[in-house]
Amino acid sequence: MTQFSVVDSPRRTDPSAFGVRRAHESDALAITAVMNEPRVLRETLQVPHASPEHWMGIIKASQSPSHLQLVAVDKDLVVGFAGLYPFNNSPRTQHARSLALAVLPSHWGQGVAPLLMRSLLDSADNWLAVSRVQLTVFADNARAIALYRRNGFEVEGTARRFALRDGALVDALHMARIRDVH
Ligand SMILES: CC(C)(COP(=O)(O)OP(=O)(O)OC[C@H]1O[C@@H](n2cnc3c(N)ncnc32)[C@H](O)[C@@H]1OP(=O)(O)O)[C@@H](O)C(=O)NCCC(=O)NCCS
Repeated sequence: MTQFSVVDSPRRTDPSAFGVRRAHESDALAITAVMNEPRVLRETLQVPHASPEHWMGIIKASQSPSHLQLVAVDKDLVVGFAGLYPFNNSPRTQHARSLALAVLPSHWGQGVAPLLMRSLLDSADNWLAVSRVQLTVFADNARAIALYRRNGFEVEGTARRFALRDGALVDALHMARIRDVH
């Protein structure tokens, strides 16, 4: 499928060329560029033409230690954005977080997503005592599903006609990764 093409960038074999750090308010414009990119947008629940102010608001609202929002950087360029965040405020679900991830298409297939995933899962496993990480992915997003399976996520169920994409209601998978906390 053409949307998985990574021909627009030479393949890099050394993921250590990229850095990972917490997202700052000053990254709002760059994060907007990643999330508004059409091949990213279609695989998320974002709507077209989101503003930098929208993303600034999300970053500002996510500064508590239980929210983790990371960017991957190639020198000064933000090439990926990922989050691990509580999905409600109940004390009964503090062992669980939702995960979201996106990479600029020019940098697909270069190990950026695995790098972000490792950082999020290290925090979940070793610092936040999060034993359940969950996510939702469109059922035909083979690239993302393969990445999630490689990182221990399993399909828990299918949500039929979950969201509108390109004018059609499409299915999504609920996936989760369960770990014992010692
Ligand atoms: C999914 C996404 C985060 C992966 O980012 P990435 O940095 O390219 O991840 P990787 O470097 O691990 O590359 C993905 C792997 O999938 C493989 N892949 C490519 N097309 C594939 C396909 N159709 N099916 C399965 N695997 C595929 C690649 O070969 C690569 O494997 P490799 O490392 O062995 O080469 C990125 O494509 C993206 O941002 N997509 C749009 C947003 C999105 O889907 N987010 C997730 C929503 S839940």
